[in-house]
Amino acid sequence: MATILIIDDNETIRVGLAQIIKKMDHTPLTAASGYEGLELARTREVDFVITDLKMDGLDGVAVLRGVQELEPDLPTMLITAYGSVETAVEAMKLGAFDFLTKPFSPEVVQLKVARALELGAARRARQKLESTCEYLQQQQVLRHGGYDKIVGTSDAMQAIYRIIDKVAKTDATVAITGESGTGKELVARALHNASNRSQGPFIAVNCGALAETLLESELFGHERGAFTGAVRRKLGRFELADGGSLFLDEVGDIPASLQVKLLRVLQERVFERVGGERSVKVDVRIIAATNRSLTDEVEAGRFRDDLYYRLMMIPITLPPLRERPEDIPLLVEHFIAKHAPLTNPNVKGLRDEALGRLMAYHWPGNVRELENAVAQALVFSESDHIEVTALPTVIRGEPDGDQLSVPKGKMALPEILDELERQLILKAFKRAKGVKTETARLLGIKTSALYYKLDKYSIS
Ligand SMILES: Nc1ncnc2c1ncn2[C@@H]1O[C@H](COP(=O)(O)OP(=O)(O)OP(=O)(O)O)[C@@H](O)[C@H]1O
Ligand SMILES: [Mg+2]
Repeated sequence: MATILIIDDNETIRVGLAQIIKKMDHTPLTAASGYEGLELARTREVDFVITDLKMDGLDGVAVLRGVQELEPDLPTMLITAYGSVETAVEAMKLGAFDFLTKPFSPEVVQLKVARALELGAARRARQKLESTCEYLQQQQVLRHGGYDKIVGTSDAMQAIYRIIDKVAKTDATVAITGESGTGKELVARALHNASNRSQGPFIAVNCGALAETLLESELFGHERGAFTGAVRRKLGRFELADGGSLFLDEVGDIPASLQVKLLRVLQERVFERVGGERSVKVDVRIIAATNRSLTDEVEAGRFRDDLYYRLMMIPITLPPLRERPEDIPLLVEHFIAKHAPLTNPNVKGLRDEALGRLMAYHWPGNVRELENAVAQALVFSESDHIEVTALPTVIRGEPDGDQLSVPKGKMALPEILDELERQLILKAFKRAKGVKTETARLLGIKTSALYYKLDKYSIS
């Protein structure tokens, strides 16, 4: 239901138009003069303005100007007496959407109202689209304003840069693997930015986050009526990414039924929207990422091997942070520069001892965990250099408070120490997922010493 403003100094016409509009199930709003009309247009939500041309005081042309100024997208229609067509043409040049000559039939009015409302809706939709695009662009600027660069000078990272340089300008499919938080999305964006498609869109899909049917329509779009709720055609991410890059995140989670469809797009760059017959062709570069081992998925029969080979044209494996601790100082500096302005602008760096703890930690959550740790430390830091005390407890590496409290039982010190040792070994063992060499490394002892202790405490 729409609201339509009728401005006319002739009461018969006002009432007549209002009746037609009510019959159409819309709400009429009437004004007997140009001034009154403009006031209503200013204070009420109006979808369409119909105004008489010849009125005392503010005439129709002045009303048009006023409305234009208030809301350029609001459709307007001018009522003219037979014979003043020239003025009407003039008015349309001024931006009136339509005009109505007196006398008029209800049918004509209905038609014109319906058309104007359609136009208004289309203008609103366009507006929304434009602002959505604008918003997305802003987001990219915000998210990547200077902080989209990959930090790290370790040999492992330099090898990654060399691959990016080599393959960015090709259209080859790239598959990025690596533990969670190692920077897969960052590398995907870097590939796009260094490619010939950098002016095109970078569109991401998280294949693990959506149910099968939803994922299919997100990827390939759907036609109007494809399923209940599909009231109009929707373009999928493949189409949105046309001319740019599509980032298929968590590609290992794609269900079997969609793997076939994806394989076809990879081979032919052609697909059909859900519920559609017509083939859609796209020019898209695929960058995939996963933190699962795709080879395991193939072996387990959950991932098609033909799709695997297509995706793995160029594999990039990001090293976990614990294998390149030499990158930690630069990363910390980078994250302080990124977060300090918002959380704690006084902080300029961190103390050597704090850096030492960061270097010694094993970072199961990789760079993301380091970034979070720095962000958290910034909040707690009381001086211009982050101290150990500001670091998250797991990283500080202090044993839990309860282990250090004086035991109430009758245990002697050696027993207490043994118990403490046993608990620490268990913890490290768990953290290392039962890998003995890793457990020993975490505890800072030789593997042989660990075997002795595992035996001593009957841990297996
Ligand atoms: N080498 C790096 N230099 C700078 N920032 C990095 C680096 N690696 C990762 N980051 C930052 O760490 C965070 C996590 O990175 P990203 O989202 O790319 O990880 P991911 O591998 O996609 O993780 P997940 O598998 O959990 O999705 C991001 O904020 C990213 O900017
Ligand atoms: Mg990611």
